[in-house]
Amino acid sequence: MVPAAQEPYATNEGKPPVSETNTPAPEGNGAACCGCKKFSSAAEAKFAELDAFIDSLGLDPNDERRRGRLIQILHRAQHIFGYLPREVQQHVAEKMRIPESAVSGVVSFYNYFTTKPKGKHVINVCLGTACYVKGSEGVLRELERVLGIEADTNPTADGLFSLGSLRCVGACGLAPVMLVDDKVYGKITPAAAVKVVEEIKAKEAQA
Ligand code: FES
Repeated sequence: MVPAAQEPYATNEGKPPVSETNTPAPEGNGAACCGCKKFSSAAEAKFAELDAFIDSLGLDPNDERRRGRLIQILHRAQHIFGYLPREVQQHVAEKMRIPESAVSGVVSFYNYFTTKPKGKHVINVCLGTACYVKGSEGVLRELERVLGIEADTNPTADGLFSLGSLRCVGACGLAPVMLVDDKVYGKITPAAAVKVVEEIKAKEAQA
């Protein structure tokens, strides 16, 4: 679900908090040993960009309604960093003067937000019943083999691809289904899926 930027504030009720250990630090982040904040210049530039955006909103620290801008700010933070590791969530909480749990609650509530880095191209294979019985698991395993990564883990070393699985995406008539970014591939076979990957690689090599 992609949350609307102006949706009202959501709580973490009934949802687990974001796991500290599963949340990688931003790229180039040199912090972690003692809790001090030492970021690479690249990461610092990203935090500065995020701060500039938050400052531009002119939030009043004494106005409870500032929490209504949290989703909008997290949208921007994910756009800047590519994902929302704990350091970024902490930063947003401090900047907005709200509890970190309020931020992690929203992040964990919406599927749109991710605490793990993603590849430039996101591949998802549907493992819903209709797709599964038509062989989608074989497609997923072949992609794991070709990409050299396990589904739902880290992206490829070159950062080009992330691989994941989904449950029914509402296109059962096309089963088995694979999604690459916003594009849907129906009646996909392992060989056809590999061909899609190779085509993307070729395009990226030319870019
Ligand atoms: S089960 Fe895959 S699209 Fe419905």
